[in-house]
Amino acid sequence: FAEDGSQLWLRFPAKNGISADKIITKGNSPTLNIARKELSSHWQGQTVELRTDKSLKNFKDGYTIKSIQNKIIIASAKEIGLLYGVYHILRLQQTNVSTTNLSITEKPSYDVRILNHWDNLDGTIERGYAGHSLWKWEDLPKTISPRYEEYARANASIGINSVVLNNVNASPNMLREDYLKKVKILADIFRPYGIRVYLSVNFASPKVLGGTEDSDPLNKNVQKWWKDKASEIYKLIPDFGGFLVKANSEGQPGPQDYGRTHADGANMMADVLKPYGGIVMWRAFVYSPSKDDRAKQAYLEFVPLDGKFRDNVIIQIKNGPVDFQPREAFNPLFGALRKTSEMVEFQITQEYLGQANHLVYLAPLFKETLESDTYSDGEGSTIAKLTDGTLRPAKITAISAVANIGEDANWTGHHFAQSNWYAFGRLAWNHQLTSEQIAEEWITMTFTDNEKFINPVKEMMLTSRETAVDYMMPLGLHHIFAGGHHYGPEPWGDYKGGRPDWSPVYYHQADKNGVGFDRTKTGSNAVSQYFPPLNEIYGNIETCPENLILWFHHVPWDYKMKDGKTLWEELCYKYDSGVHEVIDYQKIWDQMEPFIDSQRFAEVQSKLKIQSKDAVWWKDACLLYFQSFSKMPIPYDIERPV
Ligand code: GCU
Repeated sequence: FAEDGSQLWLRFPAKNGISADKIITKGNSPTLNIARKELSSHWQGQTVELRTDKSLKNFKDGYTIKSIQNKIIIASAKEIGLLYGVYHILRLQQTNVSTTNLSITEKPSYDVRILNHWDNLDGTIERGYAGHSLWKWEDLPKTISPRYEEYARANASIGINSVVLNNVNASPNMLREDYLKKVKILADIFRPYGIRVYLSVNFASPKVLGGTEDSDPLNKNVQKWWKDKASEIYKLIPDFGGFLVKANSEGQPGPQDYGRTHADGANMMADVLKPYGGIVMWRAFVYSPSKDDRAKQAYLEFVPLDGKFRDNVIIQIKNGPVDFQPREAFNPLFGALRKTSEMVEFQITQEYLGQANHLVYLAPLFKETLESDTYSDGEGSTIAKLTDGTLRPAKITAISAVANIGEDANWTGHHFAQSNWYAFGRLAWNHQLTSEQIAEEWITMTFTDNEKFINPVKEMMLTSRETAVDYMMPLGLHHIFAGGHHYGPEPWGDYKGGRPDWSPVYYHQADKNGVGFDRTKTGSNAVSQYFPPLNEIYGNIETCPENLILWFHHVPWDYKMKDGKTLWEELCYKYDSGVHEVIDYQKIWDQMEPFIDSQRFAEVQSKLKIQSKDAVWWKDACLLYFQSFSKMPIPYDIERPV
């Protein structure tokens, strides 16, 4: 088979699977037919029975797998659960796990496991690094790319059950009748794989498309427009999921344009979707030019609205309060909304992590957020427990991530970026899986089961996020990227006359005394948005975790760090070790040649070359720039970890 990466992790044995008489199912639905086809093409074990069992309905999309006598019984309340169970046993087979004596129970952590595509109607993708959009709007509804179904299959294999097709910076045209007919075709293809379609909507759509005088959510004509639009959508797509909305952020229209609140806007949409079971995912990524700290704005705007949202509204919150940085403190809005459902938004596409050139495995970043303790309801109030319904009964639970998928042969630009799509899906299904388990599974499925490959490559993946933090923005530095594209370093960026909140100098605040953003009481006091004891822990330079010290404090250059180095020496050491780690990855990868195909080997090798050059570029640019403030020498022989 092709070794261009197009098969993703779905490299089941190419030989024929079991014969039809060894697959026992009742019924003949499109979903069951897919399950049957997967088994007859790839499953080489015992007889499999697929059984719908309504008594398992508390498991939602979950399933059980049991070995009984000479067969495996997969049971679920839903047909999609049966298909998930089939992918589960295929995964066991592919990763060489014994498939006898199985007794497995699976229940998803979240109801809605959703990818957000930032794809535009003209085929470009905002922050996309794997080519143009998969969705061929100009060819639809007549011409259908085979990749639509391949995409759905890949998602179903890891439990992703929802997709937002278009950019949060949404074109009103997305809701035009001709586009909705195209959306319907995609929804029809995705449905048997258990995937529901959602759309990002532009708040000004009624005025732009419908000719209403304005788009004020309290205007009856505007409400009627949305109501009619919802009815039109559901006629075409009866299981349509709902809307994702970016409003009053970065220039997008929203309810505040009419003196209304986010709740007024979200509720208007929620009301028209409610009769059909649709939901509104309202984004908390809001900020506008202001003298105040951008990291505080979402909290300030949303906390006063707690309790005012309908129960089919869920607030979608980026993991950090600034913007998908290599490392951020978690967003203090998590846990702060007590009467409103909250969900996390991650970014799989590596806007701020070397895009499609750097190998950065994101499961550790996702886990870091999910396992962060907010202390909102006492110790142990992790973001995972706050959002999955454990701590607060929620009508809907959801988790989302911005996709990294495009029309490149390997889907994601970098072969290893596939692991981030995979990891998000696996964690959305079960947030207790470890980064290591997921990496091991993915490597085995995607490349080889040879341990001489798995172990070193796994090590490289597991350390790669910290490595990227080290060579880009260690110790809590953030947003010192070049403007616009966000690829390389530009710590000197000072957009005088432009938006200070887009200027790197605003975020690092370097001067002759030190570096870092003071978010304590003497500064923006963003620390006060965290629950005790975190406000104290973060607010005190002695107790603040060092990996966030420059996020919360303006730290003197000669400040003594825990390992005895000065801040300046530590900064030098971190940048330098990031560079050395990437050089080590190159050496590791060079040894991997015998184990895999030459195409993927060479492609990853050449990406690592770029990554190591970039790491040096980051280190030199940042250290030489910061040195102009610290006036301290860059240690000649930086101590390296053993
Ligand atoms: C970032 C990104 C934008 C995007 C925005 C968002 O700022 O650079 O391209 O539109 O996030 O999440 O809305």
